[in-house]
Formats: sequence, C-alpha cells, structure tokens
Amino acid sequence: MPHTQYARGRFLFGGDYNPEQWSRETWAEDIALMRRAKVNTVTIGVFSWAMLEPSEGEYDAAWLDDVIAGLDAAGIGFFLATPTASPPPWFTVAHPDALPIRADGTPVLHGSRDTYAISAPAYREAARRIARFLGERYGTHPGLRGWHIHNEYGTVDYGPHAARAFREWLRAKYGSIEALNTAWYTAFWSQRYREWDQILPPLQTQYLHNPAQLVDFRRFNSDEMLAAYGEQRSEIRATGSTAPMTTNFMLPTWNFLDQWSWSAEQEVVSIDHYLDTDGPDGETHVAYGSDLTRSWAGGPWLLMEQNATGIRVGEQTLVKQPDRMIRNSLGYIARGSQSSLFFQWRASAAGSELWHGALVPHAGADSRAFGAVVELGGILEKIAEVAAPPGDGVVVESDVAVVWDAEGWWSLETPHLPNDAITYSDEVRAAHRALWRGGHAVDFVAPGADVSRYRMLVVPALYAITAATVDWFEEYVRAGGHLVVTFATGLADENQRIVPGGYPGMLRDLLGIRGEQILPRADGDMVPLSNGMTGGSWTELLHAETADVVARYESGPLAGVPAITRRELGEGSATYVSTKLEQESLDAFLAGVASTAGVEAVFPESRAFGVEAIRRRGAEGDYLFLLHHGERPVRVDGEGVDLITGAVDGVVLQPGAVAVIREGSAAWSIAAAS
Ligand code: GLA
Repeated sequence: MPHTQYARGRFLFGGDYNPEQWSRETWAEDIALMRRAKVNTVTIGVFSWAMLEPSEGEYDAAWLDDVIAGLDAAGIGFFLATPTASPPPWFTVAHPDALPIRADGTPVLHGSRDTYAISAPAYREAARRIARFLGERYGTHPGLRGWHIHNEYGTVDYGPHAARAFREWLRAKYGSIEALNTAWYTAFWSQRYREWDQILPPLQTQYLHNPAQLVDFRRFNSDEMLAAYGEQRSEIRATGSTAPMTTNFMLPTWNFLDQWSWSAEQEVVSIDHYLDTDGPDGETHVAYGSDLTRSWAGGPWLLMEQNATGIRVGEQTLVKQPDRMIRNSLGYIARGSQSSLFFQWRASAAGSELWHGALVPHAGADSRAFGAVVELGGILEKIAEVAAPPGDGVVVESDVAVVWDAEGWWSLETPHLPNDAITYSDEVRAAHRALWRGGHAVDFVAPGADVSRYRMLVVPALYAITAATVDWFEEYVRAGGHLVVTFATGLADENQRIVPGGYPGMLRDLLGIRGEQILPRADGDMVPLSNGMTGGSWTELLHAETADVVARYESGPLAGVPAITRRELGEGSATYVSTKLEQESLDAFLAGVASTAGVEAVFPESRAFGVEAIRRRGAEGDYLFLLHHGERPVRVDGEGVDLITGAVDGVVLQPGAVAVIREGSAAWSIAAAS
C-alpha cells in the first residue's frame, strides 16, 4: 500500500548519512552540499548504537538531536534506522550468549557488524529498548519520512538459543513429534526423534543433512527474524509514532528471508541493490532487482541503497561511470521506485568500507562524481510529477509473470540433487533476462497469487511445490493462461519428498508427461534440439503422454526423446522445458510463447538500438522511460514531452542518455540519428 508520505510528487533523493564519523564543521559542509545537490532525504542511525547507548541503559542522543535539527533547518527529511544490526562491544561482553554461533559450532565475535544471535533474549530485549528510546524521542518528528528497522536482516545463528526457538517453531508447526518424523522422513539413517529436545539446528554433521530439516530451518529463520522485526515495530508504535516502516532487503540474491511474508508486514518495501557486473548485463540486474521489489511491494517501493561510483566485481571495485549512475537510478524509478538513495552520503575516511563509493567522494565536491550527483538531483526534480503513486498500486503493467518463491529456492539448495550446479537464482534470472531482452514488462508472483491478469506465467526450477500450487497452475491454464514450466520443477512436495511414478511427480498430469530418468550433463556439455535450440546441464528421459512434442533431443543417449512438450488444456496451455536452454535459446523460446500468448513488448523496435523502454503509470497518465544503453545516437519520435529536456514529440538520445516522456497516445518510432 503506498503511504501518503510518498504521494506528493517528490522522489526521495539522498542516502545513508553517518555524521558520527565526522566533525561538526563537516556537518555544516554536508548540509550545504546536500542543498546544492537537492538532496531531500537521508538515512541516519544505521550503525549508531554505540554512540546512542554508550553503556547498557545509558543514552546519549544530544548529538543526534543536533544532526536532525541541522537537517530540519535545511528542509531535509530523514529515515531513522534502529541500529540493531550492529550491537556495541559492551553488549557482547555483557551477553556472550547473544553472540551468533556458526554451523561448525564456533562463535562469531564482535569487531565487525551483524553480530547477534537473533533468538537470544538479551539481544531481543536490547533491540526493543533502543527502538523504544528512538520512538519516544523522534517518533513524531515532522521530518521523519519513515522507520528503517535494522539493516539487512540475515545473520543466521545455530547456537542454543536458536535450537530452543527452532524446537518451539517445529512444535507449533507439527503439533506432534510423530508428525515431524513423518514429514522429515526420519526413517532414513536412523534419525527418528523421541523428544523435541533431541532436535538440533542443522549444525555441522558428518555427512549430508536431512533436506526437510534444512528447509524447515530456513523457514524458521525467516519467521524468527520477522518476529524480531515485529517486536521493534510494536515498541515504536507504542510510542505513538505513525511513520511508515520498512526494513531494507539486500539484493535479489539475499535468500535468508521469505520476502513475500515480510513485505506484507511493511508499509513501504525497500531494497539495497548493488550491480554484480560492470558489463551490459548490469542493466538486466537493475531491472531484476526492481521488478522483484515492486512485485513484493505490490506497487511503489524504495531503492534504499546503491553505490554511486563503484561496482564490486571479484577483487576489484570498478568504476560506475556517471552516466550509468544516472541511467541506473532512472531504471529503478521507471520500475516503480519512489527514491534514489545511496550508500553512503560521504565516503568514509577510514573504517572497514573506506573504499566504498559515495555521493561525496574522497576528492570532495569538486569532482566529476559529485557533478553527476548534482545532475541527478536536477533530473529528479524535473520528473517529480511521475512520483505520484496511483490509487490501485500498479505502477508498471505487465502481461507476463515469473513465479518467485523463497521456499522453492531453499529446496533447490538442499544437497545431492541430480545437478547441484543448478541454482534457483540463476534460473529465475535467466527467465527474467530473456523476457527483458524481449522488451517485456515483467512481474513476479508468489505461488497462489491472483494471476488472472497475466497471459503468460513462467515457473523456473521450482523444485518443491504443494498440492495447492498444482491446483493453482491448473486453474490458471484452464482459464486461458499460458504456463511455461522449466526443468527441476515439481519434483518434490513441500517436505522435499519425491512423488513417485515418474517425474515431475507433482505436475505429471497437468503437463501430460512422464519422466523416467534425469540425466544431468557437465557444464558446457550442450545438446542440440530438433527446433534449432540448445540445451544442457539437465536432460530427461521423457515421455509425452497427453502433451504434444514441441522439440526433441537431437543427439546422445536421448536422441529422438521429447525435450519440450506442450499440452493444451481448457482455454490455455502448459509447456514443459526439460533441459536448461542456453540463454539465447531461452530468449527465443520465451519470445515464441509470448507471441502465442499475445504478450506485447513495450516498444519492440527500440531493442535493436540498445534502448530500454519502460512505461510507468502515473496518476494522470503514462510516462515512457527510455534508457539508452547502446553506442550510437538515436532519434525517437512520437507524442509527448520529455520532462528532462523539454523536447516535444521526439527526442535525440546520445549513448548513455535517458528520457522520461509524458506520453500522448500516438505510437513511437525509432531511427539512428547523426
Ligand atoms: C549494505 C549495507 C551498507 C553497506 C553496503 C556496502 O548494503 O547496508 O551498510 O555495507 O552494503 O555495499
């Protein structure tokens, strides 16, 4: 639900601000520079616990009062973080039992950050206390844009507190130890439990863990962290603060949480997003993170952090060029972000992240990097009208959705599957990338969501599913949807139990197929298909029962065996792809299904020129975002006004440039420009 706080024709611009690292003279310069760049929002307090509570129960927030007063005087709003991701040294010295324990049984000590055992009562109590303190002191401050609870929840503890809480969670889930024994299939390897107290977190074992136990532990952790979040929320709400709350998720690859259930507990959903490559695929990464977060949020969302100047790849921090920083920022906004926020405002002079990028680099304001920040501030002001969120929450309309499911991810991570080189994240990303390359707007959905508005639904590598999910797929297809299921989907139920009688046991009937055997292939050992496409990594000895064969394996032990099948059912179709298609093949294959399903690209001609087109819906009309990732100037003609340059009914885009066009109704065309 969009909160009115974010409905005022204003994008939030700024980032994490850590004034405790700097002198008061620098604070004054910070404010002046923020004004110069039109920064309107900072996030404070993320790592301030040791400053705010120098010893247990003793508070010192006078410095924060001054920081907030300075921001306020300059008209700059703030997110206030609860600092609970980084307990101070006094805390861990006083409460050594609240240190997290690794799976190998060793404790993690303070000296970095994120050092907490989420289930430790002392930690939970201390977290509640500092949240309450901040709520009482700042909860009704007019400059407060929202609460930033904790930072990137994700420290997993395997210690005694976790064991106790895990057992409680299991008891609530299963009711009886017999039910747990059945669900966990403890007949295997003599694991039968007689008492709840015999159950452990999946600590280091001699050999493989029980997969059902592993997935339950992941489910438990997500719920346990959400409970900790909920406690902080209650403390703050009890002080009378009504400001919206969020906690910053971290990257689409952060798989400690079930983001669907977490998003339902937040007024605004936010994410930190860091590019994983300086190459062109970084653009698909921006789209991927944005589409996921918008989908979790069900509407507008916040980009809480990105790096202004750097891209960490392997052992190097590569440069994010100014034009890319601006283009990426607009890419997030095009896909529903209400903000362009960064980590961090000013580059640290020392400390663990002293070489991390920032809005104000080490060189200071007299720099190309800060020049780009000022430019971005100007652009965000020019396009401010786009920020008005529509009443129904939909900011990007799409006809195609991809199923994304944390539990499915955790299931595919259990060890000793036919091919452990297959990762959920890569498979979902590959499907999204293919649709991105086709120029489609894409949503993600949770199993069981309302999918009636999508013409096409893609289900990548969803290893474990429930009977309810099977019914949901069937209903979707019968009603006219086009379902595409890829390999490694539906092999097991929610307890990681194979459904016998042929693969994929859960989906055999719906897909009209029966797999006898899975034949994984080594990385790079590709297999041609009869439709000219190429598969690899995973192949199956498959029989088409009630389905039609779309393509067969062309060579090797499976020559002549169905590789891709399609079953028509009701008004729709259910397609199965039994192999990992090479990216180009997947691009072409999903493009084919999309065209059969009637899924249209936003601006199909633009792709050949390297121009990404995204349509964002505003309260008054549509905005066409054009992000030029290509290498030659282009001219785009149509009906509308570019809010950035003021150009009417057409715009020339230089390589790297961006346009945000308030659209009329005429169609757009594109051509090379000189
Ligand atoms: C995360 C954290 C920040 C900072 C950045 C660095 O997103 O929230 O505190 O460490 O990573 O990229």
